[in-house]
Order: sequence, then C-alpha cells, then structure tokens
Amino acid sequence: MAKMAIFYGSTSGITEGIAVRLHEHFGEELCDIYSMEDDFTSVDEMLEYDYLLFGCSTWGSGEVQNDWRDPLFDMAIEKPDFTGKTIALFGAGDCVTHGEQFVSALGTLYDQFQKLGATLVGDFPTEGYTYEYSFAVRDSKFVGLPIDEVNESDKTDERIASWLEVLKSHFPSPSLETA
Ligand SMILES: Cc1cc2nc3c(=O)[nH]c(=O)nc-3n(C[C@H](O)[C@H](O)[C@H](O)COP(=O)(O)O)c2cc1C
Repeated sequence: MAKMAIFYGSTSGITEGIAVRLHEHFGEELCDIYSMEDDFTSVDEMLEYDYLLFGCSTWGSGEVQNDWRDPLFDMAIEKPDFTGKTIALFGAGDCVTHGEQFVSALGTLYDQFQKLGATLVGDFPTEGYTYEYSFAVRDSKFVGLPIDEVNESDKTDERIASWLEVLKSHFPSPSLETA
C-alpha cells in the first residue's frame, strides 16, 4: 500500500486539479488519491496512511466544501485518533469576491485535525496574497496552501512549487522512493 494519500473535496474542479497535480508529483506508487465525493467511505481509509494531504475549497461564507461537511461532523463526534499522522492542507478560494473569508475552510480543517491529535505541517506565507480576512491564518501564516484560480491563476505554478519545497522535510520524497 502507498505510504501517503490525498483526499480532496472540490465543487467546480479547481481543488481537484491541484490534487491531481500533487498526485502526479508524488507518483502513484507512493501516493493514493481519493475524491471525498466519489471514493471516500469512512475515516478508517484515512487512518491507513501516515502521511495525508487534505484538499478543501471554501464555499458559503468561509465554509468547508460540501463533501467534507458530513465527514468532519462525524469525526467531531467519533473522535478518531490521528496521533502520529502528518497532515498538510491545500484548497482553492477567491480573494476578491470572497476576500472576507479567503480559504477559511483550511482553518476549520486545521483546528479539527489538530484536536484529533495529528501533526499539521505545510504552512505558507501570506505575502503575495491580498484579502480582508482568513480563518486559515495563524501566527501570520496560512495553515496550508491557498490557491486562487479565479484571480491569480498566473501564480499557481509558483505557489505549488514553493509549497512542495516546504513539504520536503515532512513528507516522503518521490525521488528517494524511485531511486
Ligand atoms: C457561492 C460561493 C461562495 C464562495 N465562498 C467563498 C469563501 O467564503 N471563501 C473563499 O475563499 N472562496 C469562496 N468561493 C470561491 C470558491 O472557493 C472558488 O471558486 C474555488 O475555486 C472553488 O474551488 P473548487 O472548484 O475546488 O470547489 C465561493 C464561491 C461561490 C460561488
């Protein structure tokens, strides 16, 4: 079984596109990929992996993408143990039309998985982003990788590349796996 997995929720396909690119980077021998809508059946699937990338866009006014809603609700009640799991977060948002809650869903996932014992890694500088407020900012950094394909698609490649550099010291390396 692969050592790590990506689980993503995406309504219009933007976060899915990022998830697919991250999956291509890590490679299918090292990394599995699950759509929260089509593939996810139970939290036990997540607990099979030591390294997890969770993708979630923000909808409503700062809310998690629809396919994450019930799983997060269930986990808040059942309190599965994520101790020893390394988790990094990414997700799409819109810093102009929804700049009052930019990628706030990442903050919700961050709080919940930290409470469940996970080690959250992969924070990202706020420099270069313009927004009013984000629940995903802690200690002046985003808790994961924000992507804005609506307004700043020209920055996506560079942001993903910088984030993968951040992840290098926390996640298995694809090049080492294939060496
Ligand atoms: C009704 C509506 C509400 C939205 N709310 C937010 C929000 O609160 N914060 C944010 O950053 N983006 C918000 N967005 C923007 C989406 O997150 C953005 O379009 C994103 O690219 C969708 O990604 P997905 O296709 O992976 O779901 C909203 C978009 C719509 C249409």
